[in-house]
Amino acid sequence: MKGILLAGGSGTRLYPNSIAVSKQLIPVYDKPTIYYPLSTLMLAGIRDILVISTPTDLPSFQRLLGNGTQLGLQIDYAEQAQPNGLAEAFLIGAEHIGSNPVALILGDNIFHGPGFTTLLRDAAREVDGCVLFGHPVRDPERYGVGEVDTDGKLISIEEKPAQPRSNRAITGLYFYDNSVVDIAKNIQPSARGELEITDVNLRYLAENRAKLIDLGRGFTWLDTGTPEALLIASQFVHVLESRQRVRIACIEEVALRMGFIDADQCHRLGAAIGKSEYGRYVMETASTWS
Ligand code: G1P
Repeated sequence: MKGILLAGGSGTRLYPNSIAVSKQLIPVYDKPTIYYPLSTLMLAGIRDILVISTPTDLPSFQRLLGNGTQLGLQIDYAEQAQPNGLAEAFLIGAEHIGSNPVALILGDNIFHGPGFTTLLRDAAREVDGCVLFGHPVRDPERYGVGEVDTDGKLISIEEKPAQPRSNRAITGLYFYDNSVVDIAKNIQPSARGELEITDVNLRYLAENRAKLIDLGRGFTWLDTGTPEALLIASQFVHVLESRQRVRIACIEEVALRMGFIDADQCHRLGAAIGKSEYGRYVMETASTWS
């Protein structure tokens, strides 16, 4: 399965924070925001990843992540010249996707929860149609919203509805079979002029090929779209990391645990940034790995 990490947009709700820096490069506590969605793709076992961003911001992502070989990945880059919507990712990424299934993740989405790796790997194994991930939120009107029937079957999806039919937000992680490219080619821009991911998902739903996996209440899903959301995310990560002395979304550790790199490679990555606590954690993780 191929991966697409969408890190475009202008992040206007974070201004002035995101005027000179892409919002996906702003730190969430101890690492750039993009580390979180990147680690999610890696945990799903995905190693071939296309990062899509604006022409202005792409060089910064390249400086941060390079071609990915240091993490046992292949990372390529593509431009989204205008904010034409999330579903444009499948048009920009058509060549990258080729004849494979694909996972799309939004660059400001943070997932954390028990059994996440297993859940991802199981969901990625056989994608027939699309797999969406739902999570209960207090303010569903800000998101795509899914409604299920009494058997847990998805029956409706609405984008930012004024009167949500449920509190189940559709998160920014989507698995699709290869027909997503054709579907994206055939949808029309919405009233706000964007190719909406919800319209893609509605096509799958109409064909009875959309599945919703509920991330239960023990799970945490965060985005970083506003200053408060960014602070909450940083606080969440800080609490976990300081209490447990582990780091989450440490991409070097994830690469090691997933078997994408060995302990020596991991140690070298830590040493290169060894003056930071993060770097020392990477070195320690590599030294105690067996
Ligand atoms: C997008 C999608 C929405 C989804 C959300 C998740 O919204 O359109 O369906 O629930 O991402 O983060 P946006 O953040 O672009 O407003």
